[in-house]
Amino acid sequence: MRMVDLIQKKRDGEELTAEEIQFIVEGYTDGSIPDYQISSLLMAIYFKGMTAAELADLTMAMVASGDQIDLSAIEGVKVDKHSTGGVGDTTTLVLGPLVAAAGVPVAKMSGRGLGHTGGTIDKLESIEGFHVEITSDEFIELVNKNKIAVVGQTGNLTPADKKLYALRDVTGTVNSIPLIASSIMSKKIAAGADAIVLDVKTGAGALVKTLEDSRALAQAMVNIGNNVGRKTMAVISDMSQPLGFAIGNALEVREAIDTLKGEGPEDLTELCLVLGSHMVYAAGLAESLEDARQMLLKVINNGEALEKFRVFIEAQGGDGSIVDDPSKLPQAAYKFELPAKEEGYVAEIIADHVGTAAMWLGAGRATKDSEIDLAVGLMLNKKIGDHVNAGDSLVTIYSNREEISQVKEELYKSIILAKEAVAPPVLVHQEITKE
Ligand code: URA
Ligand code: CA
Repeated sequence: MRMVDLIQKKRDGEELTAEEIQFIVEGYTDGSIPDYQISSLLMAIYFKGMTAAELADLTMAMVASGDQIDLSAIEGVKVDKHSTGGVGDTTTLVLGPLVAAAGVPVAKMSGRGLGHTGGTIDKLESIEGFHVEITSDEFIELVNKNKIAVVGQTGNLTPADKKLYALRDVTGTVNSIPLIASSIMSKKIAAGADAIVLDVKTGAGALVKTLEDSRALAQAMVNIGNNVGRKTMAVISDMSQPLGFAIGNALEVREAIDTLKGEGPEDLTELCLVLGSHMVYAAGLAESLEDARQMLLKVINNGEALEKFRVFIEAQGGDGSIVDDPSKLPQAAYKFELPAKEEGYVAEIIADHVGTAAMWLGAGRATKDSEIDLAVGLMLNKKIGDHVNAGDSLVTIYSNREEISQVKEELYKSIILAKEAVAPPVLVHQEITKE
């Protein structure tokens, strides 16, 4: 096989076979096919797209390029959740203990990553003593015993995706629905999930901004998963403003505790119930989505969801008493308010600017080696549709620095007020299951 022929084939809009796709992915991973030919192919895919069969083949070729996690020693249907990202998304912290309390085995492998705030592991590490350096035997044992454990990234998962993603980043081909869909799904499948629930964000703060593109991405991922034998469904949810109130590591842990007690922000709670219901249903533990939702409401109301969070924290060396007393979490030295300059209705909260402000406070990593300040962050006091009077606090800022004029300026840019009343955005746009 010659790579140049395969590039021309894709350029002309023809379908690549499974063998051809395997040849490409293997050749790129082992270095026998150079960057310039793959760059050209990626651009052809960007313009010509991929068929459902090509997408399944590309995904599985990337899975086969590295290690695959074997979770077969864990009892039950392992359901993983993936979110396409956004600002202040506290859902993972809530959903783990929530669905585990309902009986779903949560075997979470998580990373640190770059971003406005840390990854799930950084957030959990704001709890004194909590650690994710456990062996794979301990990990499996904990999931069987408690239904939930989190381990740091181990093994060499999907090296082909790592290499392709880096190349896409410098060749203008990140924003391609087939390439995003196969990239995300390859990682989930390699991590061993039997079933996958996807939270595809849409709106200004999301990777994919329009509802039409979000639908196409969600459908592509649902098709890939189901075509390769993993039950997969997607929820398209709003990211036209940050989810919940908290943006920051310890602040989000506190928000997760509130939500597990049934006292969390309305939007975060509702999204966790929607995603959680799909997880419980996919695990085969409920007859219907409505039954699954009732199971989740029950464990919130009877305290089992919060208790599960405590058991999970303590099993991994953390101080479980933070669930009763969140003031034991890291605290920032200074607290500032951001007063509204005029009366009006909140029309927009531009998530990207809010994220940048959180980053400047030190809540996130700009480069792989930056240190995160777990205590700092933002609490939104108003959301889209709320009425504000001049002088009302829009945001409470938790900082370890006294000088934050740049942060305040960025936040003023992010919150747009209107004279007329504004309707709050729709939270869940669509739920997509098999075609
Ligand atoms: N996240 C991924 O993992 N891959 C993409 O291609 C885009 C976002
Ligand atoms: Ca939040």
